[in-house]
Amino acid sequence: MTPMKRIDKLIALNCNLSRKEARQLIKNGDVSVNGKTVLRAEELVDTEHDEVNVKGYSFTLRDHIYIMMNKPEGVISATTDSAKKTVIDLVPPELRRRSLFPCGRLDRDTTGLLIITDDGAYAHKLMSPAHHVSKTYVATLAREPGSAEIELLERGIVLEDGTECLPAKVNAFTEDGVFLAEITISEGKYHQVKRMFAATGNHVEKLRRISAGALCLDESLAPGECREMTEKEKELVFE
Ligand code: URA
Repeated sequence: MTPMKRIDKLIALNCNLSRKEARQLIKNGDVSVNGKTVLRAEELVDTEHDEVNVKGYSFTLRDHIYIMMNKPEGVISATTDSAKKTVIDLVPPELRRRSLFPCGRLDRDTTGLLIITDDGAYAHKLMSPAHHVSKTYVATLAREPGSAEIELLERGIVLEDGTECLPAKVNAFTEDGVFLAEITISEGKYHQVKRMFAATGNHVEKLRRISAGALCLDESLAPGECREMTEKEKELVFE
């Protein structure tokens, strides 16, 4: 059975409005459910089956939104910043919600897969060490990593400040003379991948996240673009 939700709350969430603004729309007669104008803010709606229309536009109502972004270089993984552009600034108006935030952080110069949501419980599960969501990155390296360095990373390297990392999976290769390594880690320590390679005496020149769990970055997204995730994609993260 689909849970019934108050219409004012759903309109506020889905139209990026305050509850007060949503109530005003309802009062003005701008909202209809299954073709009938709704004038009570407390009216309950079946989010799966009812057809809600606001000022002539039909809405698919959801409690939460889940967005996949191909993070570009130069923006920070934060909700607001007084000076710098954030990933939330890049979310297009049709996907905007008041309480969107990025699930975890990518460095300003790191690119690739970033999940943005307004679902705190989902984000908590995704970031909690208990769920061991693995993340795979492609690192562009200053020099070719030797087998001894790869072994260190795969055994669980100790960083220069003594921090111990869990074993990683590493696949190093060369493409057009560029030294690359695909590295999978299941933790999210500060600058972790860069510091892991630094501890082997190497240097990460570029870093791109390509997957989280079994969810891969949609390569058709240009840097800075995002789209809503499917139900299946939401779950793939935990596989
Ligand atoms: N590891 C890093 O060093 N930087 C990131 O942005 C993500 C993982």
